[in-house]
Amino acid sequence: MTATGDGFVRVAAVGDVHLDADVVGRYRPALEHLGGKADLLLLAGDLTRHGTAEEARCVAREFGGLPVPVVAILGNHDYHSDEPEAVASALRDAGLTVLECSGTVLSCSGIRVGVAGTKGFGGGFAGACASEFGEPEMKAFTSHGRELADRFGASLAGLDCDVRIALTHYSPVPETLLGEPLEIYPFLGSYRLGQAIDAAPGVGLALHGHAHAGSERGMTPGGVPVRNVAHPVIKQAYNVYQLSVAPLLAPA
Ligand SMILES: [Fe+2]
Ligand SMILES: [Fe+2]
Repeated sequence: MTATGDGFVRVAAVGDVHLDADVVGRYRPALEHLGGKADLLLLAGDLTRHGTAEEARCVAREFGGLPVPVVAILGNHDYHSDEPEAVASALRDAGLTVLECSGTVLSCSGIRVGVAGTKGFGGGFAGACASEFGEPEMKAFTSHGRELADRFGASLAGLDCDVRIALTHYSPVPETLLGEPLEIYPFLGSYRLGQAIDAAPGVGLALHGHAHAGSERGMTPGGVPVRNVAHPVIKQAYNVYQLSVAPLLAPA
């Protein structure tokens, strides 16, 4: 079940595994069988519990040396100890690709699969979103989300590939937050991420985490399927999504 010229790519994904020394090993048995089920594995952030380098080494043990390429972003938990570079470095040492407002292109049996990623940030959604007005703290909160979304959008649009995948920790749409308290939506995602995804051509799938009590399925206003792959939502080591590339490969 790999991309063997049938025009499909099988994308495994999970987020919010929140690994530490007590949890390491929980996912590995299922991950060992990934080679027969997927072409790549995407990790949607919150890989550690408190963002320490020691916890990142647990993530490296859990997700290193797998039979498929692994591409990750960090989540807000991975920033908690103020050493996100050490966390990212431990993951890279294990062979993972770590993105932040950047992208990578993988070849899956001749299909060029582009993945752009960012942690992203909050800010809210249409009709209930933060604005760059008033106190400097409010401006900083809002502008941080805008800047990340802008840089992420440029990375996504700039990929030279056959199909694009958007990987964020914060949600690009409100639909996949269904189940979370409405009051915290501005801390769970931003419409700006959705705008960035819709502005790029040929995005086949958008994946995010962060909303542990949210819902799996949503869609951007432009029609890109969105999946919340937070582990508490999908309730298994990973989900696999089949991504059709055929329309993009067909002659114009
Ligand atoms: Fe989380
Ligand atoms: Fe999170």
